Amino acid sequence: MSILNIEGGRPLTGKLPVQGAKNSALPVLASSILCETCSVIHNCPRLSDVDASLRILECLGCSVKQEADTITVDSSGINRFDIPDNLMREMRSSIVFLGPVCAKLGRARLSFPGGCELGPRPIDLHLSALRQLGLTIEEDHGWLDCTAKKGLRGADIALSFPSVGATENIMLAAATARGNTVIVNAAREPEISDLADFLNKCGAKISGAGESVITIKGVDSLHGCEHCVIPDRIVAATFMAAAAITGGEICLTNVNISHLSPVLPVFIEAGCEISTHQDSLVIRGPVKLKPVKCVRTMPYPGFPTDAQAPVMAMTAIASGTSLFIENIFENRFKHAAELVRLGAMIKVEGRVAVVEGVPKLFGARAEATDLRGGAALVVAALAAEGISELHGIRHIDRGYEKIEESLSRLGAIIERVQ
Ligand code: UD1
Repeated sequence: MSILNIEGGRPLTGKLPVQGAKNSALPVLASSILCETCSVIHNCPRLSDVDASLRILECLGCSVKQEADTITVDSSGINRFDIPDNLMREMRSSIVFLGPVCAKLGRARLSFPGGCELGPRPIDLHLSALRQLGLTIEEDHGWLDCTAKKGLRGADIALSFPSVGATENIMLAAATARGNTVIVNAAREPEISDLADFLNKCGAKISGAGESVITIKGVDSLHGCEHCVIPDRIVAATFMAAAAITGGEICLTNVNISHLSPVLPVFIEAGCEISTHQDSLVIRGPVKLKPVKCVRTMPYPGFPTDAQAPVMAMTAIASGTSLFIENIFENRFKHAAELVRLGAMIKVEGRVAVVEGVPKLFGARAEATDLRGGAALVVAALAAEGISELHGIRHIDRGYEKIEESLSRLGAIIERVQ
């Protein structure tokens, strides 16, 4: 077990490349199962969730090779349709293997992912959509037994909510199904477009990704391709919050500015100066942060639920009251109680959190209880007077590549202690 010690109070300065997007890399890795030849995936972040995906691929019989940020997957040896419970439990995103395993082998047996630290995470939308594509699914004591005796066939699927995971599973199951599939009310996140780009390079026929209606013309087979995962917009937003709260000035490279458009207005409202370039941005934090009126998390292009916690941390020392409304997950304010340990004043009532800005935060011992909540504690600790000791950092390692090295490069005093 390791902890992070952070001595706050230093404005961040310097230049940092942003890692590839976890939420793109994981579905792209899962979809490599569908390819008959090798897939080469660049810009894959080195994260524990990526390692978990590689273990699932290997368990299914694929061979994988990882060199720096490039992962090569050869799925020609795939010989299993079941994923052991311990691997399924390592990350919630393991459910994205369901569509491709069924499409490739006509069968899948995997354990139900269950709830997680953000509250219940149902998969009813995934299951009902896959049933419409011809999959028979039996739920048996926490296991899903899935068969597609006659193969998968295209269907018109209307989602009652634009679920990211369900949209991915449908695209992956439908890419090689017989006939056409149309997804109405599809998720529009950039990671959906990235997955479609990967699949199309492999020979799929997917149009409309990034919009609400996605059309997938089923093809007989897919081949491997070479693909570079998009930059991680949530990691970028986290470093922006860290620069803002410390009154620093940093340049982030390897960013996609249009993917950041839902978060930029919030930083500007808080008084930050931002200049954007082709694939980089410079953010300068103000001497005193201003409060943000209301941050409502929404499906893309709304404000991302994943950026809510780090941005909330930033507003803890703003000159007034900020309001946050969490519309995606029921239980996504756990970081609030931990931020309070550092001196923040936050009241939570259901899906609403009210942050009264305080003049100063103070170093304290705090516990990361989930990935982005952990990142929020790092942001707060960077501005706090004195030393903070952050526990539970395995959560942070799920989504941030060596966070202490990145922040040290920007001048932070931070160390990982075993
Ligand atoms: C969600 C986020 C995604 C984020 C990821 C990791 C949204 C819309 N999705 O994706 O941006 O990167 O978490 O934090 O912001 N739901 C159901 N039934 C289902 C599937 C989902 O009721 O079958 C509900 C969930 O409980 C949740 C909402 O839909 O309230 C969003 O779910 P979904 O987009 O599927 O979640 P993820 O794919 O995990």
